[in-house]
Amino acid sequence: MSILLEADGLEHSFDYLLFKDINLQIKSQESVSIVGVSGSGKSTLLHILSTLLKPNRGCVKLLQNDIYKLKDDELIAMRRYDVGIIFQSHYLFKGFNATENLQIASLLTRQEIDYKLLQSFKIDHLLKSSAGRLSGGEQQRLSIARVLTKKPKIIFADEPTGNLDKETASCVMGSLFEYIQKHNAILILVTHDHSLAARCHKCYELKEQNLILS
Ligand SMILES: Nc1ncnc2c1ncn2[C@@H]1O[C@H](COP(=O)(O)OP(=O)(O)O)[C@@H](O)[C@H]1O
Ligand SMILES: [Mg+2]
Repeated sequence: MSILLEADGLEHSFDYLLFKDINLQIKSQESVSIVGVSGSGKSTLLHILSTLLKPNRGCVKLLQNDIYKLKDDELIAMRRYDVGIIFQSHYLFKGFNATENLQIASLLTRQEIDYKLLQSFKIDHLLKSSAGRLSGGEQQRLSIARVLTKKPKIIFADEPTGNLDKETASCVMGSLFEYIQKHNAILILVTHDHSLAARCHKCYELKEQNLILS
């Protein structure tokens, strides 16, 4: 199995030191969860791993490429085709309907919209609705479906089920776990939900500036 994500010696501070000497290796089909108290730096770590923020120290390799050595267009291509980011605020195009939101991802990456996935997310009946009119939970599921439409190899999810009831959250996470098995992808999940975290292959806690395997 190939290593899709590797982090070596990551360190970052804003007003104070958030973490230092963070090392991580994730192989295809693996899922990893990160828990930790609010303010411990989980989102910052996810931003670093997902190419959005450069750390004070350390190196990140995605698909065996050192992301700080890629040319701009190579990094942009990697973000477009290989990396899927599910954040707390979902950045849907609110003026467009649900289908159009999915088509954007589909056009950018030349991948088909997966209608079975939409059925399993129970949003297949909402495709003509304006994204801005959907409930918080429906928007969240639509934004996850949009990310999966790209068929990314590396998925970052920051509290992806925060707006969902337990049953729906469990179903959506089930689809994410299924996806990474089927597509030889990986999932890095930040969550406050310990039972959800425990469903991942490896569970880490960000604590006292370190990533501790639990
Ligand atoms: N862009 C930024 N500029 C300055 N401080 C930041 C920035 N992003 C996060 N922080 C600070 O870093 C700390 C960790 O934030 P964050 O990574 O969001 O933690 P978590 O996701 O674990 O709650 C917080 O104190 C936050 O205010
Ligand atoms: Mg956070």
